[in-house]
Amino acid sequence: MPLPTIEWIGGIDGKIKIIDQTLLPTELKYVYCDDVKDAYHAIKTLMVRGAPAIGIAAAMGTVLGIGKSDSGNYEDFMRDLKETTTYLASSRPTAVNLFWGLKRMEATASKNSHKSVADIKNLLLEEAKTILEEDKEICRKIGENGQSLIPDGGTVLTHCNAGGLATAYYGTALALIFTAAQKGKTVHVYADETRPLLQGSRLTAWELKNAGIDVTLICDNMAAHTMKDKKVDCIIVGADRIAANGDAANKIGTYGLSIVAKEHHIPFYVAAPASTFDLSLASGTEIPIEERDPAEVTHIQGNRIAPEGVKVFNPAFDVTPAGNIKAIITERGVINDPTTEKVKNTIQ
Ligand code: MRU
Repeated sequence: MPLPTIEWIGGIDGKIKIIDQTLLPTELKYVYCDDVKDAYHAIKTLMVRGAPAIGIAAAMGTVLGIGKSDSGNYEDFMRDLKETTTYLASSRPTAVNLFWGLKRMEATASKNSHKSVADIKNLLLEEAKTILEEDKEICRKIGENGQSLIPDGGTVLTHCNAGGLATAYYGTALALIFTAAQKGKTVHVYADETRPLLQGSRLTAWELKNAGIDVTLICDNMAAHTMKDKKVDCIIVGADRIAANGDAANKIGTYGLSIVAKEHHIPFYVAAPASTFDLSLASGTEIPIEERDPAEVTHIQGNRIAPEGVKVFNPAFDVTPAGNIKAIITERGVINDPTTEKVKNTIQ
């Protein structure tokens, strides 16, 4: 069982408990979010990260935000709720699970407009906990639905972290690997380190090693050479937002991997829950791409590695076109060679 990445502690006046992922792998430390500002900060600074985990944190952050609302009537309460969700929605732009989680919270309040404010608050807490519990089952199903794509003795290359730390259970991309291993298959994984914030080396290598999976760490610029010279059976990555046509945004560097995989005839898989699809966007060109602090590029863990004043471009995500994706594995089934019609049939 993976360690819980995120939990709600206590009742309506409770708090969020998370693993501070910025400290891994050298320190495994749990921290608490006592108010909505803490939750915003935890999402923004990647203490909690990965699309599904961000969705859960946003839902729980909403409970922190409205917990202190002293509005006695539904209209005033909804104004406070909207203020909270608007604030949390401004934390990170790309992972659609954030907005999906917030919309679920707003819908729960709207559906229960006839109830007292105290009752609605409790229902919102229940909804946030439900989102977390559902995600565990979703990860399990994604693992089951996709594990057959990994042959016994197979080698997988992955990018960033789409494991337990990014979800409520054992991940999306890594769920396929964990499930294959549970079924007795031998699996070897190449983990890209994933500059600039090193989610691959700090988090994926840590998770896989802890689980006893044979993992080899490579720098991002070694992936093409590894695909050419070593045996790589498939690439499996997660996603932050998937457009209606199957174009998938994921951690910066994923698009490049998909091109190299195509060149080497290596199947490229995306594993993601239905909540990561944004059917309101026809294609990936409409997905907003987060740009982050230049210091993430000019520094590695606080140490300067570039001259002062150098110009920096730091997009946190890129979009892999559906044409480069062999299949998208979801809890609702596998979408082979994704098209708008196939995505609609599985997700809508
Ligand atoms: O910036 P991050 O660390 O939140 O980016 C995370 C990723 O890109 C993951 O691959 C994605 O969210 C899928 S998590 C199951």
